Amino acid sequence: MTNLSFREEKINIGRNYPIASRSGFKCGGCAEYYAQPSSITELKEVFILAKERRLPITVLGAATNILVSSDGVKGVVVSTTSLKGVSVKGTLVTALAGESLDSLINKAIEHNLTGLEELGGIPGTVGGAVSGNAGAAGKSVSDFFFYADCLDKDGNTIRVKKDSDTFSYRHSLFSSDLVVLTASFSLLPSLSASECRKKKEAYLKKRLESGQFASPSAGCIFKNPEGMSAGRLIDECGLKGKTVGKAAVSPYHANFILNTGGATAEDIYLLSELVREEVKAKTGYNLEYEIKLLGFKEKA
Ligand code: EPU
Repeated sequence: MTNLSFREEKINIGRNYPIASRSGFKCGGCAEYYAQPSSITELKEVFILAKERRLPITVLGAATNILVSSDGVKGVVVSTTSLKGVSVKGTLVTALAGESLDSLINKAIEHNLTGLEELGGIPGTVGGAVSGNAGAAGKSVSDFFFYADCLDKDGNTIRVKKDSDTFSYRHSLFSSDLVVLTASFSLLPSLSASECRKKKEAYLKKRLESGQFASPSAGCIFKNPEGMSAGRLIDECGLKGKTVGKAAVSPYHANFILNTGGATAEDIYLLSELVREEVKAKTGYNLEYEIKLLGFKEKA
């Protein structure tokens, strides 16, 4: 353990913080240091401090899409979840990184703006959704993304506008060296806020019916291979209901792994790897993780 007193710095950084309790899977280890800055200025201070102390930084949103190993995460984990706020100017909707994607969609609908309803009910923050280019039902965050203000690895704030390299399927250039501070979306005027609300609710209902929230999970574990559904492949390999310890392949949607109560992060990891191996052996498809693994060595 690094022998540091972060208290001197007057930044609220906790030690041995059980981030896993916040994660979608509700299991795994602790962050060596944990900060949840309540302003962008405070977030920058955390970065400066960690850099001075040569501590690695891991930025997380609501941790809905991560699996933290039981050994936890070394260095400083920074959660953006206290950076909240959404503003609307004409057809441009801007949110701080820690705002929930769902609140952004609701705010847009209130202001008679449309575009993101299909993403209704995707758990997590705007920063996380932009970084992972979240999507559902053929729509992705990238479809309406306009620009993001980001912190680069030297601590400078830069504005990144969308170009052809910014996003690909479930990936963005924000997932490596850039931290999203705010993101702006250019939406379309809608004729009826109530129709948009109904549409969004219908997608949320579909998500609920898929059993995603029945037990702790991180939604889809694997990315869809091009032109194919990972869920369908896993299902066709007969893996629904397969378990390792208390981790189980969902009986509803085969691309979800559930913590059925008391699963360890290693149960979930081993089950995911078993699924990958079976799918590779039976179908030839190489499934790639959609979730982020922290503290594990992902096999190639
Ligand atoms: N299917 C099966 N068995 C299963 C699951 C799916 O046969 O266990 C079949 C379905 O019947 C359907 C096809 O596979 O014919 C596609 O299924 P689905 O509509 O559920 O879509 P998906 O491609 O499996 C994607 C996203 C989900 C999103 C849904 C709905 C990825 C990796 N997954 O799943 O996103 O909710 O579309 O729009 O892109 C997530 O990212 O966490 C996530 C859940």
